Amino acid sequence: MEKVKLNNGVEMPLLGFGVFQVSDLKECKESVLTALETGYRLLDTAAVYENETAVGEAVKESGIPREEIFITTKVWVQDTGYEKTKESFIHSLRKLGTDYIDLFLIHMPYGDVYGSWRAMEDLYKEGKIRAIGVSNFYNDRVIDFILHNEIIPAVNQIETHPFLQNEETHKFLENNGIQIESWGPFAEGKNGIFRNEILKAIGKKYGKSVAQVILRWLTQRGVVAIPKSVRKERIVENFNIFDFHLTDEDMQIIRSIDMNQTFFNDYNDPEAAIRMDAIRFIP
Ligand SMILES: NC(=O)c1ccc[n+]([C@@H]2O[C@H](COP(=O)([O-])OP(=O)(O)OC[C@H]3O[C@@H](n4cnc5c(N)ncnc54)[C@H](OP(=O)(O)O)[C@@H]3O)[C@@H](O)[C@H]2O)c1
Repeated sequence: MEKVKLNNGVEMPLLGFGVFQVSDLKECKESVLTALETGYRLLDTAAVYENETAVGEAVKESGIPREEIFITTKVWVQDTGYEKTKESFIHSLRKLGTDYIDLFLIHMPYGDVYGSWRAMEDLYKEGKIRAIGVSNFYNDRVIDFILHNEIIPAVNQIETHPFLQNEETHKFLENNGIQIESWGPFAEGKNGIFRNEILKAIGKKYGKSVAQVILRWLTQRGVVAIPKSVRKERIVENFNIFDFHLTDEDMQIIRSIDMNQTFFNDYNDPEAAIRMDAIRFIP
């Protein structure tokens, strides 16, 4: 598996497996086990997904040494702030059945994110987290974070797919030593992405599916991708993307379908902050 080197030297797999909206814990555990058997070594969960326990069980049951698996989890809005973030971290550790997290992210750009960051910096210095980062932070927030904190985020996990390509943001993050990670690489199927004629035509040249073209396009740009699927054949399909190469022309063609628009949340929209704040769960 190809890896990227984060700004603190920690290596992170370029392709991983996400478990958002896999609320059936049995299904989650089975999917993660299938992913690990397939060869995925990066798992992406979050406290708010309420499936960390299933992820942890799958990791244990896989028999793969813990240090070979890169686990990401995230602290939710309701748990921002110094003390609450430390508590949330302990809950995540317990649920995942591990004594450290590879990548711990602030899930949303809301709440007391500065308090959270100080807690995360402390946990990082104590060796309990290998890398710390953010998610859904737009560039203005990222730069403010860089200017007003000791540790620069290692990763920013943001919505990135062929209809929201984030070229400029990618450059900005790269220039600031921050790894871009795509969530929703398939835009969760929105806007007919799997039927897109341009992506289909490119795939046809290589005997690859639209999903594989998208994941190849992302990873070839150096974007970490974490597709989600609960179906074995798709989990395998999504992993088989390192045996072909997109040409510069293919990359240019894909560029032409960028709509530069979100299919989920505009984090500058006050409604988004209100919506996220309303999501509560028992830690
Ligand atoms: N930080 C954040 O705020 C945030 C937000 C969203 C997501 N994420 C992370 O990013 C991960 C991926 O994003 P996502 O789950 O939102 O969406 P996604 O990966 O873009 O899309 C998942 C959807 O695509 C389908 N699918 C998967 N592989 C396919 C294939 N080869 N062919 C056809 N359909 C396929 C899945 O259905 P089946 O399962 O039925 O196969 C599912 O409906 C999440 O699981 C989560 O870990 C983070």
